[in-house]
Amino acid sequence: MRFRTVGGAGLLTRNDPFLEWQRRRAEAGLWPYFRHFATALHPHAVVVSERGEVTEGVNFGAQDYLSLSTHPAVREAAVRALRDFGPIAAGSPALGGATPASKALEAGLAQALGAEHVVLFPTGWAAGFGTIRSLMNRRDHVLLDRLAHDSLRQGAAASGAAVQFFDHLDNADVRARLHAIRSTDTANAVLVVTEGVFSMDSDTPRLAELLGLCREYDARLLVDVAHDFGAMGQDGTGQLGLQGVLDEVDLVVGAFSKSFATTGGFLATRSASVREFVRMFGGPQTFSSALTPVQVAVAQATHDIIRSPEGALRREKVAAVARRLREGLAARGHRTMGDVVCPVVPVFLGTTAVGRIASGLVARRGLITHLVEQPAVASDAARFRLQAMADHAEQDADLAVDILDTCIREAHESRPVPATP
Ligand SMILES: Cc1ncc(COP(=O)(O)O)c(C=O)c1O
Repeated sequence: MRFRTVGGAGLLTRNDPFLEWQRRRAEAGLWPYFRHFATALHPHAVVVSERGEVTEGVNFGAQDYLSLSTHPAVREAAVRALRDFGPIAAGSPALGGATPASKALEAGLAQALGAEHVVLFPTGWAAGFGTIRSLMNRRDHVLLDRLAHDSLRQGAAASGAAVQFFDHLDNADVRARLHAIRSTDTANAVLVVTEGVFSMDSDTPRLAELLGLCREYDARLLVDVAHDFGAMGQDGTGQLGLQGVLDEVDLVVGAFSKSFATTGGFLATRSASVREFVRMFGGPQTFSSALTPVQVAVAQATHDIIRSPEGALRREKVAAVARRLREGLAARGHRTMGDVVCPVVPVFLGTTAVGRIASGLVARRGLITHLVEQPAVASDAARFRLQAMADHAEQDADLAVDILDTCIREAHESRPVPATP
């Protein structure tokens, strides 16, 4: 049964079969979602499933790449902001939600990204969605990488523009599509959308080449740097810095939720009118409350660390953990995906059924990590998504490799029947 396309008049009951399927998976110990962390995001942590099953062990399941959520200076900044400004902003950014601290954060991010203007959003999701939805309209064209994040896809769909997906990282496909569009339409805007690092696959586009194509066909480029900004490159400038295109990408959107130890997102651009238009019509800018003083203070404190020698050291440490995971798994015959040394290490599992069984086994053996299965990825390409942190020790990586090796083998040996969606 395809749960996502279920129909019928019974809006409140037509998803009952989905609930039943989900319950049976949970009863079998094969439902890894909606667990909660019962501890802070340390390398060793405790998560609890909704049925009360506890996994206490090594934590490769948190998005805190630089381990800044537990940094004393970051926590102190949060406490100070709470004490001085309280727990909430006055309203949406359009209606008094900005503060001197949020203005300073925007200026610092603009400088770091070689852009003159930054617009803050309540989440990274809202930044991608709000930017594309507001800038593009139904006469325009949006070309997205086939694996682009949900926020970018939904922003494109909601804008009403003609949407096409190009093959993952395939600049030749981008060229062919741009050529076809520009052969018949030179009057409307074209936006090409990609990511700095695709976290499910740990790979990156050739950005300078992509920019060249955009220039050739009068298209603009948007790059979502949620996973690499802060975590990679000189001063944390991510793939834009590493690939030498920092001042050139037209629209950069990002998230604080991976390396900046808080929630929130941003758009960075050199265009003053883009900034003003997105501020006014970018949905969450007008109709959703602004980042709280605590979120702003944490983003500022982490950005200060990210640009300091300590930030460089933390990036080196997290890269070393990721490398050790990759090498350890390869030595045991397992396949890690991608060619970018970033904090996310995808470990290939195979079919959805193997993935689900392996995910139950690792939780019982004391490894906190996440299963990625269909429909997020193809039904024969389930994987674990390990998230390394700067504070992990070598032994943590080695323990994770041991547990993964045992459990992935066991899952394959159990010869599971094909899974239903
Ligand atoms: C590429 C990309 N963009 C945006 C987001 C959303 O960020 P946030 O969780 O801060 O809303 C994510 C998070 O998963 C992401 O991977």
